[in-house]
Amino acid sequence: MKKINFAIVGATGAVGRKVLEILNEQKDFLPIEDIKLLASDKSAGTKLYFNSKELTVERADSESFNDVDIAIFCAGSDVSIKLAPEAVKKGTIVIDNSSAFRMQKEVPLIIPEVNPDEIKKHKGIIANPNCSTIQMVVALKPIYDLAGIKRIIASTFQSVSGTGIEAVEELKNQSAQIISGQEVECKVYPYQIAFNVLPHIDEFDEMGNTKEELKLINETKKILNDWDINITATAVRVPVIIGHSESVYIETVEKTTVAEVREALSKAPGVIIYDKPSQKQYPLPIDVAGKNEVFVGRIREDISVENGLNLWIVADNLRKGAAYNALQISKYIVENNLV
Ligand SMILES: NC(=O)c1ccc[n+]([C@@H]2O[C@H](COP(=O)([O-])OP(=O)(O)OC[C@H]3O[C@@H](n4cnc5c(N)ncnc54)[C@H](OP(=O)(O)O)[C@@H]3O)[C@@H](O)[C@H]2O)c1
Repeated sequence: MKKINFAIVGATGAVGRKVLEILNEQKDFLPIEDIKLLASDKSAGTKLYFNSKELTVERADSESFNDVDIAIFCAGSDVSIKLAPEAVKKGTIVIDNSSAFRMQKEVPLIIPEVNPDEIKKHKGIIANPNCSTIQMVVALKPIYDLAGIKRIIASTFQSVSGTGIEAVEELKNQSAQIISGQEVECKVYPYQIAFNVLPHIDEFDEMGNTKEELKLINETKKILNDWDINITATAVRVPVIIGHSESVYIETVEKTTVAEVREALSKAPGVIIYDKPSQKQYPLPIDVAGKNEVFVGRIREDISVENGLNLWIVADNLRKGAAYNALQISKYIVENNLV
């Protein structure tokens, strides 16, 4: 396999650090010749480690991409909009974690377990879906293939690391403030997140949906290439550090059974069934944090309607929801000689 020059834009953030952590854990995941760590002025000069070698974070600009084969962008939409096209001009393949390009027609929106071959259609930018979309679609694709899906009702319980490093600090600080009887400081979220839940992720539209809910709806349709599924979602922020949980209700087109669904999920790549109610076994974010797979439990029929099923889906939002998914895309690119 060709050795690649690799870059992480936003290397000091929650997702960027996770990309580096996974590469340090799995040394042969990608054949990396050289790695460039990029961030804003604020973190330029920060030291991070790759393969026990100290690397210095550099300021990202349009000149950063000379000789870079693949760059994972995890610095937010504004940076992606500004620098991703510059990187593409230099011949770099961009894998973008932001929502900037996800719904653009010519940009493949990829979950490697679901639609890997779409990667080949890229024109320089490949989008990583939203974290809550990734874990839901990894778990639903085997059921979609088994029996079709016509309706999805998703309620998410999303951790604060989904907002970034500052939100993790906010949850920790507020928890300490509350326990020690101090006044609570809110900087990242509009309300206290410690010991609370907020039914509000990203901005509201004029219909009262949040952008996060619309991402889950629209991205799911694009990835499955099925614009007829009826999907509705409520996205909720919870005081968990890592790991998004989702209560997902589906109606299948064809009648199927829980046994058939379990069988399909047990063979699905990247899915682990953890579902023994009699032994109180179901996926929990604290157990799933640090894992690359999507965990599914509470699989059961909804006896109130025809063809209804309920699932509880949990994954590490920083890993499968962002960094690991982007690295899997990078691996596909290298293994298929697309670089
Ligand atoms: N967190 C998740 O679970 C998750 C999941 C899926 C997708 N995403 C997406 O991934 C992206 C990053 O999220 P995050 O949670 O990692 O955020 P974060 O913790 O706030 O990190 C942001 C990173 O972007 C860098 N940055 C900021 N401004 C920059 C600039 N002008 N030029 C270059 N780098 C700049 C920051 O560098 P400094 O240290 O210099 O400020 C930092 O490294 C976002 O688009 C987010 O929507 C996040």
